[in-house]
Amino acid sequence: MGQPIDPRTIDDALSALMPPEGALLVVTGDIDIALGGRLAAGRAAIRRTPSSFSAEEALAAQPDLGVCVLREPIAGFDQAGETLQTLAAAGLPTIVTFTTPSPVEQDDPGIASGAAALGFRATAAAIPAEGLTSFLLLPSGEITNAAWWRSQDGQRFVKRRRKRGERMLADDTMRDGAVVWRSSPKWEDRSVVVASLIPDDLAVLDLGCGKMFIERHLRMRAYAPLDRMAHDERTLVVDMNHDDLPTDALAAADLVIALGVFEYVVDPERQFRTVSAAGKPFLLSYNVGELRRRDAGDAQLTDWRNDWTTVELIQRLIASGFALERLIDYGPRQRILVAIPRAGDRRDWWSRLGAPKT
Ligand SMILES: C[S@@+](CC[C@H](N)C(=O)[O-])C[C@H]1O[C@@H](n2cnc3c(N)ncnc32)[C@H](O)[C@@H]1O
Repeated sequence: MGQPIDPRTIDDALSALMPPEGALLVVTGDIDIALGGRLAAGRAAIRRTPSSFSAEEALAAQPDLGVCVLREPIAGFDQAGETLQTLAAAGLPTIVTFTTPSPVEQDDPGIASGAAALGFRATAAAIPAEGLTSFLLLPSGEITNAAWWRSQDGQRFVKRRRKRGERMLADDTMRDGAVVWRSSPKWEDRSVVVASLIPDDLAVLDLGCGKMFIERHLRMRAYAPLDRMAHDERTLVVDMNHDDLPTDALAAADLVIALGVFEYVVDPERQFRTVSAAGKPFLLSYNVGELRRRDAGDAQLTDWRNDWTTVELIQRLIASGFALERLIDYGPRQRILVAIPRAGDRRDWWSRLGAPKT
């Protein structure tokens, strides 16, 4: 979890970047700050959490500036990321403040690419205290048509997409009044394919569980969702860039899965070794470098932390103690891999692995 935050420090961070007037749309996560002093003085403000955020309502109030106070850096897929994307799509300049375990450099490429993936460019930063960073983000204006997003059609579109758990990506484009989505095949579909591979009634540990789509499509004996942020009260909150995997949850699992997660992890091999040392079969999906580059070019905007080809990924799994059991193409850029620890028992259920639905 983030560090304790002194509301006065947040006020300082935001005030440093805040224009002198304008109505605010304030979106805070689970941080209960009383925005005070210079920040709120003389301004109309509506306030929401990412989960209660409704684009329709928020934009109808015609705010001049969005303010997001988050516990985590821009994540890209979580609700706060979606909220920020909507603000960018609506053409709303936004100040975002988040706590980080260590100081973030103003020119950290992760911040710049994270902001860009959401449709913003970072223009100014304030780092008023260790572990607290503020950015003023301006909509990049390159991917959206603000007027359309404000229209009823645009807002209905956002609502529908959000309901389906989809997110917009940086190179989603608008043509002839219709949005052409790059995010295909849809995220939930990946879980449908993965569920079709796995026998019922296993205990599954889901690393980077996100919206837990797998739970909708697979009958499990036990389900342990893990993510760097809590998505519900069951979530084991573990940041795989800093923390070890919890040994209890690992011991209780028959199978560890990780769909679309290790792209975001700085040192995936550390977790690979832990899973293999625990003797657990491992199913993961990954956007492999050779297909991504063919498809999207080198300049894809992401907050990914690694960019391995299929061969490099397999080499790392093998070096971490796994043997490769299955390799399945999924969508234009991804592969699904099933790996079994070489030192572990080969479980009898493994022979019941299904054929993927296509
Ligand atoms: C692209 S989403 C995939 C979600 C889900 N597995 C699915 O297939 O729908 C990536 C998920 O990984 C999580 N994540 C990213 N970095 C992480 C880290 N360092 N530790 C734990 N979870 C992380 C994000 O919060 C997000 O929920």
